[in-house]
Amino acid sequence: MANKPYIYVTRKIPESVISRLKNFAEVGMWNREETPIPRDILLNEAKIADALLTMLSEKVDTELFEVSTNLKVVANLAVGFDNIDVEEATKRKIVVCNTPDVLTDTTADLAFSLLLMTGRRLVEAVDVVRNGEWKSWSPYFLAGSDIHHKTLGIVGMGSIGEAVAKRALGFDMQVLYHNRNRKPETETKLGVEYASFDKLIKQSDYVLVLTPLTKETKGMFTKDVFKKMKKSAFFINVARGPIAVESDLIWALKEGEIAGAGLDVFDQEPINQDHPLLHLDNVVALPHIGSASVETRTAMMKLCCDNILAVLNNEKPKTPVNKELFQKI
Ligand code: DGY
Repeated sequence: MANKPYIYVTRKIPESVISRLKNFAEVGMWNREETPIPRDILLNEAKIADALLTMLSEKVDTELFEVSTNLKVVANLAVGFDNIDVEEATKRKIVVCNTPDVLTDTTADLAFSLLLMTGRRLVEAVDVVRNGEWKSWSPYFLAGSDIHHKTLGIVGMGSIGEAVAKRALGFDMQVLYHNRNRKPETETKLGVEYASFDKLIKQSDYVLVLTPLTKETKGMFTKDVFKKMKKSAFFINVARGPIAVESDLIWALKEGEIAGAGLDVFDQEPINQDHPLLHLDNVVALPHIGSASVETRTAMMKLCCDNILAVLNNEKPKTPVNKELFQKI
């Protein structure tokens, strides 16, 4: 018993999911579903853990690695891993895993829903009915912007981008994409068109951000970029808040440089209720729910467990981020 590995889960997840871990290891878990684990408790658990199953609300950084003497794997319940210092983990031979693929379609569904909600002013419309403000039918009452036959510009064409493109093509949209690497096969398969960032920004009616948050993408959307967008265009972000300079986005929305924004992500999450973005009629704000379906979140949890069990059994996990750790095995 004394030699059993110790796995710590930083948020309450169902017993049915972690029971597999319990057959193999001691399992500790932060017993709240909606409240993040306090930093001091996380650090204390990290001191003794062989594996951590983390959320994107936890900073997994040098301070944490310094105290963890046994840590072999961090399995993050997200495809994004900007909350983890992967370089530092790799130096220490700690495997970092994420949850790609299982969330692709669910996140694409949400991205496209947010685009529809924003363009067609659906939140305003729901509020009008709910608040008893629906007085009559009138020609331009809650008239939004069309989706069909408009141009969608996808910034960051990974598998979620491709899944959104498929949805958009079903709506007869023209799809431009910008990506670090051009993807000729995707262009042929889906009929999407590669564009420089500048061209995409200028020509798109909907600019959708799906790129990961990295040193290169942080602050990618500035006043200058918003100024180049059509005044009738919408900015949709389901990736990470800091990819846009939030104050510049607020400026663009207030000045009419762009028509509106659909945002699932923010600089600070949860966003403060008195944040200026929440007081603009042309903003649809969601609480970071890109991958939030019961089926997908459960699949993500199971994938995290698979990855942890693989590493603790000296096997290659399904979805490592720092793949270089396995090249010599
Ligand atoms: C991810 O997986 O990175 C999402 O943002 C979490 O829902």
